[in-house]
Amino acid sequence: METTPDLQKIRHILVVGAGAMGSQIGLVGALAGYQVTVQDISEKMLAPASEELSLRLDRSVAKGRLERDAADAAMNRMSFTTSLRDAASTADFVIEAAVEKLEIKREIFRELDEYAPAHAVLATNSSTLGSSKVADATGRPDRVCNMHFFNPALVMKCVEVVRHESTSQQTVETAMGLAARLGKAPILINREIPGFVANRLLGALRTEALKLYDGGIASFEDIDTAAKTALNHPMGPFELMDLVGLDVAYLIRQAHHQETGDPADLPHPALAELYEAGHYGRKTGKGWYEYP
Ligand code: CAA
Repeated sequence: METTPDLQKIRHILVVGAGAMGSQIGLVGALAGYQVTVQDISEKMLAPASEELSLRLDRSVAKGRLERDAADAAMNRMSFTTSLRDAASTADFVIEAAVEKLEIKREIFRELDEYAPAHAVLATNSSTLGSSKVADATGRPDRVCNMHFFNPALVMKCVEVVRHESTSQQTVETAMGLAARLGKAPILINREIPGFVANRLLGALRTEALKLYDGGIASFEDIDTAAKTALNHPMGPFELMDLVGLDVAYLIRQAHHQETGDPADLPHPALAELYEAGHYGRKTGKGWYEYP
């Protein structure tokens, strides 16, 4: 993997957004030896995020996957704040993992551009919005790209690095290099395309699973069982929707439909029903399955 001057400079990574994705991406960085700040506008998000990460580390220590000292050192490299200005001022690389709303992301990128050092790459973890949609809110579109992690980010190896038309080769190499240093397996996507690569593959499976369920061909539990026992997938498509969040699955589908305009790409009715009822999966205690 190429090393770039920007990659060499990275000491401090800022992750914007303390949801499950943002906080786990932060811990991945801290475990790899970087100073990490996780920023969120909501104070209420920060303490639970930090507690959840400590629990994850304790579990890894208990399972013998990590030394206690390494876990403590990783946690000591992490800080949590509500101040984007302070956190960005010393950031060498930023990964934005805030809510999937374009206007909010554009404002974050505008602020990041103002506060972050000129050399910092500004990446978005968005799975639905190509970085071209936020790059022009900054004065450094060549240093903007997608860096898309998968859920759970602590475990999943794939990171999709997606370039837009103005992303420089150096930015691509820095993002790919950083992903590799985080212990991930980056793949490069040369053109913005809805769903990138992995979610397009997943979407095909999910669409078929929803069609089978809706047609009364099989129960969602049995469809999940087939994916696990016939295809060796670690989780069935319905279990996976519950893990990722039905809100995320719904919004991905809706964004895809907005891009294509094809009614066949609308969120599936059974998914829309759960979404509208506020059943988002594991995070709300109910989705396709119930989580007591
Ligand atoms: N967060 C962090 N770590 C988790 C976790 C979570 N939610 N769930 C499980 N883990 C960790 C466990 O701690 C364990 O790690 P250690 O062995 O180091 O302790 C490891 O994962 C294995 O966990 P389990 O033994 O409890 O369970 P498992 O073997 O069934 O694995 C799983 C759980 C890793 C989630 C596995 O079922 C899996 O890989 N599922 C598929 C996940 C997937 O496809 N993700 C992609 C989603 S698509 C997406 O993310 C796209 C997008 O744009 C939103």
